[in-house]
Formats: sequence, C-alpha cells, structure tokens
Amino acid sequence: MPSSVELYLQYEGLIVPKETHSFESLQYAQQFKFKDDDVVAVTYPKSGTVWMQEILPLVLNGGDLTPLNTVVNWDRVPWLEETRLAKVVDQLTSPRALVSHFTYNLMPPSFHTSKAKVIYVMRNPKDVLVSSYYFHQMASFLEDPGTFDEFIEKFLEGRVLFGKWTDHVKSWRRAELGDRIMFITYEEMIQDFPASIRRISDFLGCNLTEEVIQKVAEHCSFKSMKSNCMSNFSLVPKKYMDNDKSPFLRKGIAGDWKNHFSSEQLARFTSVIRKELEGENFSLLWSL
Ligand code: A3P
Repeated sequence: MPSSVELYLQYEGLIVPKETHSFESLQYAQQFKFKDDDVVAVTYPKSGTVWMQEILPLVLNGGDLTPLNTVVNWDRVPWLEETRLAKVVDQLTSPRALVSHFTYNLMPPSFHTSKAKVIYVMRNPKDVLVSSYYFHQMASFLEDPGTFDEFIEKFLEGRVLFGKWTDHVKSWRRAELGDRIMFITYEEMIQDFPASIRRISDFLGCNLTEEVIQKVAEHCSFKSMKSNCMSNFSLVPKKYMDNDKSPFLRKGIAGDWKNHFSSEQLARFTSVIRKELEGENFSLLWSL
C-alpha cells in the first residue's frame, strides 16, 4: 500500500494529492490572474464541490445545458490549485467559474485585488467525514483511510487533505470580503434546491426566471448527475477511481453520519469540533 509520502505533497502545512497537484500547479495558482467577473466556489473536500461544478455554468449562462453535456466537470469548472487548470484556462469563457479547496490565506494576490465573487459551501463535518472515508476507499491516489475510528482521529487532527475542517471554515469568515462572499450549506441545498439556486443566481446578479431555476434544479439533481458521464467520474480509469468500491456520487443525502458514528465517536467528535469553534459565532444548521 503506498505511503502518504508517496501519495501527497506538503504545501503550506497542508497535504494535497500528487495525482492532481504539483508544485508547478500550486505556483500557477499563486500567479493566477483573477478577473472581476470570475466566481469561485470554495469548499472543504467532500462538501459539494462537484455539485457546484454543475450548478455554476447553468446559472451563469441562463440554463444552457451544453457545458453539462459536452465538457467533463473537472474541465468545465476547474480547480484553481490542480494541474488541469493550466491546460484548460484558455478554453474558459467569461464569466469564468472555478472551484477551490484553498484556505483563505492561500488565495493568490490577484484574488484580493479583484472583485471576483466567492460562494463558500459548508457541510455538516460528520457527513464530510463519512463521504471522505468512502472516497479514500475508492480513490487509489489517496491513502487507505484505516478503520472508521482511525479516520476520525486523522480528521480531527487535520492529517487529511487540506487540513482541519475547523481551520478551513474559520479561515473564510473574513469581514474584508464583505458582499463578495456568500455562504451556503449543503444541507440548505438538499432541503430546498430551487431556493438555493435562486440565492446563488441573485448573488451573481443573474436574475434567472422561475422556469430556468426549475430547469437548473432538474439537471443538477443527484439523479441527473449520476446518469451523466460528464459528471459522474465514470470516464476516470478504474485504476484511479473505482466506482465499484464506492461511487463518487455515493448517497447525496444529509445525515448519513447517523449510520456510521457510535455514541462514543459522536461524543468525541462533537466535543473537539465544538471547542475549536468556540467564540466563533457560527450559526450552524447542524447540532454539534
Ligand atoms: P456523499 O459521499 O455523502 O454521497 P465533493 O464534490 O466536495 O467531493 O463532495 C462529494 C459529495 O457531494 C458526495 O457526498 C456526493 O454524493 C455529493 N453530491 C454531489 N452532487 C450532488 C447532488 N447533486 N446532490 C446531492 N449531493 C451531491
């Protein structure tokens, strides 16, 4: 089994997979020139990134399904920090949409001087952990997660991709971003998807009609994404992602943690996360 040293790069105290990142790509991200009309969806891994890769192009283009049907998600809305960006950047048309797992301090200088907008998607960390646990089993470029108990400890200590969940969510609570940033939760999107699309559309100044919002909701549903080879990762060779072990689009629900955490694990997890968020004034949807 490959070790974490073989699989991961260390970058600014965080670990990132070598399969999709290189020192050049991380440097490229630092030199990336943000434009004022760019939009970047920022997430801690497993919080709804690929969902945003589906939603953003449709919201920005008024519901034209062409990108969903013709471009794979990782090229359609590329990751700022991954190697693919340099290869596809010239094909992106404005307003451009990107995704990123960067913490705030890793954003390049041009991000700060631009008016680019940010949509920060948060998800219940217990569900993030469960989703990540299965992802580590199906992706050969990630370390074996060990037992669920061991993975909980790794997650809480931040010995996972992009570090501690609490550091990530805290890093993006920046007053200086003002109305350039919108916060949304995965759970909110699950609860009322059309209303969430409307919030995103209003934030981006797109003013979609109800008819288009319904169309976006239908084509970005879990079911639609699962049956779209441009979005379900079935085009990735099995040696990298084995959908038979666990599909990338696995369950797409809120609350699967209830099927995985013992009461002891829940108590431990909750006490650590609560302590780290103390004084942060987070009005979370989830009971922590
Ligand atoms: P599960 O493993 O809990 O199913 P990311 O894209 O950040 O890696 O997050 C992946 C998680 O988002 C997976 O969660 C995946 O199923 C879920 N997801 C992706 N598209 C979704 C959709 N349209 N509706 C609900 N969940 C979705």
